[in-house]
Amino acid sequence: MSPATSPGEFPEGPELFRLGAHVAHLNHGSFGAVPVPVDRARRRLQAEEHADPDAFFLGVPDRLAAARRRVAAHLGADPEGIAFVTNATEAANLALDALRLGPDDEVLVTDHGYGTVVAAAARRARVTTVVLDPALPDEEAVRKAVLAAVTPRTTVALLDRISSPTARPVATPRLLAGLAERGVTTVVDGAHAPGMLAAPLAGRPDFWFGNLHKWGYAPPGSAVLAVAPAHRSHVRAPVPSWEDHHGFPRAVENRATVDYTGWLAAPEGLDLLAALGADRVRAHNSALAGYGAELLATLPGVVPLPADESLAMRALRLPAGLARTPAEAAALREEIAARLGCRVLIWPWPGGGGIRICGQIYNRPQEYERLAAGLRALLDGR
Ligand SMILES: Cc1ncc(COP(=O)(O)O)c(C=O)c1O
Repeated sequence: MSPATSPGEFPEGPELFRLGAHVAHLNHGSFGAVPVPVDRARRRLQAEEHADPDAFFLGVPDRLAAARRRVAAHLGADPEGIAFVTNATEAANLALDALRLGPDDEVLVTDHGYGTVVAAAARRARVTTVVLDPALPDEEAVRKAVLAAVTPRTTVALLDRISSPTARPVATPRLLAGLAERGVTTVVDGAHAPGMLAAPLAGRPDFWFGNLHKWGYAPPGSAVLAVAPAHRSHVRAPVPSWEDHHGFPRAVENRATVDYTGWLAAPEGLDLLAALGADRVRAHNSALAGYGAELLATLPGVVPLPADESLAMRALRLPAGLARTPAEAAALREEIAARLGCRVLIWPWPGGGGIRICGQIYNRPQEYERLAAGLRALLDGR
């Protein structure tokens, strides 16, 4: 195999963030990171709030609507069809509540689904889990496996746009079309889609949610829930508010006296991405993640999973027997952080888990080189 080619650094990328230099942050996909200009915008909003709380809070509903319109324009969404929510997990709960599921309803999920989101379904209905071999070759194989699991009892499919542990596209437009043809209501977990995908909402799902605080450079706690017109009147606001009479989306995103500055600053994140050149950022991030994956694939027993090369995340299987349980995965993750100074996701899986790395404009190729060299030594010592 020819040696991996380093993609270089994104000009001024690292300087746009305040990440600590003591650790290589190769896990943007879990919590994101806030760029300095976005953080400054949020602080300006906080200063406004502190200077005149009455004026600030009385203006919040209209300012949220304006911020929502800006976010919608970036995502290619209907501004009246999305609402700000705190995170993907909250959105999943709101979407599933709107479906008013009963004991006979069955929700289809996959074993790549995110724990808190799958748990939201399990609280409300019977869940059927489609087992997807992480080594399935491509999107077509994933599509066939999910459709094969649909039965007359399947009322809802709750599927990842891009899965967390394995970085797999699951809820592709073709799969969503196949589910709609079968009369299945679709709920898409697009946690990683905003910012990572050029068309994050593609495929006309009934419900879709995505975090803005991951690849959209927004402050933490910023996400949106998108709802198809037929379902909007069924979405119940998490708490009653003075905006209730407006219905979705205003009723959902007004939460009495909370900190709205993250949502109000969220469009600044997507504006920044656009100003940097979203396609350029995406190309760079996927090249970095690919570079890291190539380096890791040279380690004995480490096997890359089939990847969508346009994505900024890559997953690899670790040698068999490692990270079989959540506790083992957490221990290995912390060992890598402590000994190698690298933050990565270690995902548990029966028989042996894997590692997920991300590329983001603050990362440098040397960080992946350090991870690969350190992990080689760490695995050798086992
Ligand atoms: C696919 C997926 N869904 C949902 C979540 C949960 O996101 P949050 O903690 O913002 O609710 C994550 C978090 O990493 C995720 O990767």
